[in-house]
Order: sequence, then C-alpha cells, then structure tokens
Amino acid sequence: MPEPFSAIKISEHVYWVGAIDWSIRDFHGYLTPRGSTYNAYLILSDPVTLVDTVKAPFREEMLSRIASVVEPGKIRYVISNHSEMDHSGSLPEVIRLLKPEKVFASVMGTRALKEHFHLDREIIALKDGESLNLGKLKLTFLETRMLHWPDSMVTYLHDDALLFSQDGFGMHLASSERFADQIPADILAGEAASYFANILLLYSPLILKLLERVGKLNLPIKIIAPDHGPVYRQNLDWILQSYARWAARKPTGKAVVVYDTMWQSTEKMARAIGEGLAAGGAGVKLLPLKSSHRSAVATEILDAGALLVGSPTLNNGLFPTVADCLTYLKGLRPQNLTGAAFGSYGWSGESVGEIEGILKEMKVNLVQEGLKVKFVPDREALEKCFSLGKAVAEKIK
Ligand code: FEO
Repeated sequence: MPEPFSAIKISEHVYWVGAIDWSIRDFHGYLTPRGSTYNAYLILSDPVTLVDTVKAPFREEMLSRIASVVEPGKIRYVISNHSEMDHSGSLPEVIRLLKPEKVFASVMGTRALKEHFHLDREIIALKDGESLNLGKLKLTFLETRMLHWPDSMVTYLHDDALLFSQDGFGMHLASSERFADQIPADILAGEAASYFANILLLYSPLILKLLERVGKLNLPIKIIAPDHGPVYRQNLDWILQSYARWAARKPTGKAVVVYDTMWQSTEKMARAIGEGLAAGGAGVKLLPLKSSHRSAVATEILDAGALLVGSPTLNNGLFPTVADCLTYLKGLRPQNLTGAAFGSYGWSGESVGEIEGILKEMKVNLVQEGLKVKFVPDREALEKCFSLGKAVAEKIK
C-alpha cells in the first residue's frame, strides 16, 4: 500500500516531509488567512537525518511522508533548528518512536528543548559555525539568535548548496505546491511581506547583520528551504533583496490611518484626514479596525512613512480595538514613522493623549498635537482634519 502522504524531493539529497495546515487562521495573534505549512526535511545521507519536525497534531502526516522514501526507524540524526512548538512539537514522539542516535540543537536550543519537553536524554549542542559530517555530506550551522527566538539557528548543506533557513524567508501559506516559483507572484509577495511584518520586523537590525554575514561567508546558495511556506529554487535574489529592503525600514510616501469608531465621529475625522493626505500627495490606506485585523495593519505599515491613529474615548480610555492594535504594533517596533493622533469624545477625552503617549514610545515623529473633537465634528473640525492630513503628507513627501 502506498503511503497516504508523500515526500517531495527538493534537491539531490533532500526531501520535504512536512505538513500542510489548511485550517490555521491565528498564529499567535497573526491572522493567517491562507493557512500555513510546517516544513520538516529529510536528508538521505548516511546517517539519515531529519531537520526539524512539525507541530504535534501533524506528526502522523510527517511520519507517513518520511515512510514514503525511507523506513522512519532508519533516521539516526535529528537536528532542531528552532525550539518553537510549530517545529519541535513532534520531537518528543520522534525520539520515543524512532530512537535516533543523536539529536542536535544550538547551545540555547538544548536549554529551550529541555525547558519545553523535559526530555530524559542528551541533546547535543552545536556551536555557531560548527560543521557536522553526514558520511560524504557536510552541514554547517550558524546561530541566528532572535531570528526568531534566542535558540534559532540555520543549517547549510554544502553538497546541495541548500540553506535550511528555519523561520527566515518563510510565509504562512498552505499550498500543495512546494516551490515558490509555482505560486502566483502576487500571493507570494503579499504573504512574504505579511510574514516579515508580523514575525520579523522587530528583528530587522539582526536580519541586516545576518545578510551581511552570509554574504561575507561566500557560501553558494541555490536553494532556500524555510520552515514555513514554499521552497525557493529560482530567483533567490528576489526574496533576499526584499528582506534587505524591509529590514532597512526606509519610509515611503504612504500613510496608514488606523481607527475605530463608536458613533462615526472618529470615522468622519479619519475620512477627512485621508482626503487631506491624498490632496498632499500621499498614498493613503484607511484601516477601520472593525474590518481590519491587527496583522493587516502591521503589513501595511511595513513600507509606510506615516501612521495616524484615531480612537473615541470609551470609559475614560482607548477603544479596546485601538488599544489592542497599538500594543501589537509597539511590540513590532516599526521605525522612521511620522504620525498623529485623533479622536472624538463626549466629556473626558483621554483617548487622544493615550494614543500620543504610545506613539511617542514607538518614536513616531508627531507633526502636531492630537486632534480632539467633542461629540460630532462640524465643518470647521473636518477642515482641521483635512489640514492635519495635508501636513503629514508634506512631511513624508
Ligand atoms: Fe515557526 Fe518561531 O516558529
């Protein structure tokens, strides 16, 4: 009987043996409308080696894909590039069922795996830059601390010029196609940008350093095999250059207006601000939080030059969706933004000041004091909103 799940060959010695998660829509707070994959890779070397595993509920799928090319018990080495549970969740069962001779992780990874799974066996620590021979094949490991966790590392297979890049260069995209060149370009670009914005943006300085380090090592890379989404085997420059551009966080002439509203007053302000921004020559995106998820806002900010945030005052504070979104954005540490706060109120009006406080913590350059409107904006108030938009547009030209 054939295995129900098949491995996909991605290079001379490597098979993809991961899992496709068609149903996931929330990845620790990040909306994933197209699902995801958890990529594990099998190196048909001697010893047979598994690079990463999959999220725990998908263990049987991974084992079936492995069994489609080799008897799973023949796996003698397991390498854990990253201890987050989407990649290590099946590791305890792999160890219990397959009894590999050796399990490897970075120095920090050995600790993290112990703290996750309390394993009663040795995990062998690999140092930054260390190499490991798999018979005739050779692997080299590079620590990539905080990309995405302190334990993270990437693994380079010299013989196939293949980089197992772990979370780096990944995307949350469930597909039966395994290679990036099989995915429509607009979906690829959108999901790669969304992933960078929501997972990696705050580590941008480390990404620039890593790109520089890999460039200096002068390792030929023909294939990039990340732990999420498709494998790159063509046009690698596109994703490498995209990462360099996003990580540089250079502002553009695009302005993002994020807001929520109770009785449409803050919404009227947002719309007038949008008109002013457009009249001033800015590209404009209005994102009402009733219909825009926080991760869509993060994605729009990736290449923006301005962030304007509006909230009515509710119970002496921020509207909950605005507080949620600002907490999320602040954690992602966007840089080089110009901005402003605005909002309507009935009697106390704390929301605008609270937004300004958070925007200052985010080091957003505020163009003027926030705009507050009591109850419903009249024509004069809307003209002030228009002028605010125009002033921001002037700053980001
Ligand atoms: Fe895909 Fe940081 O785990």
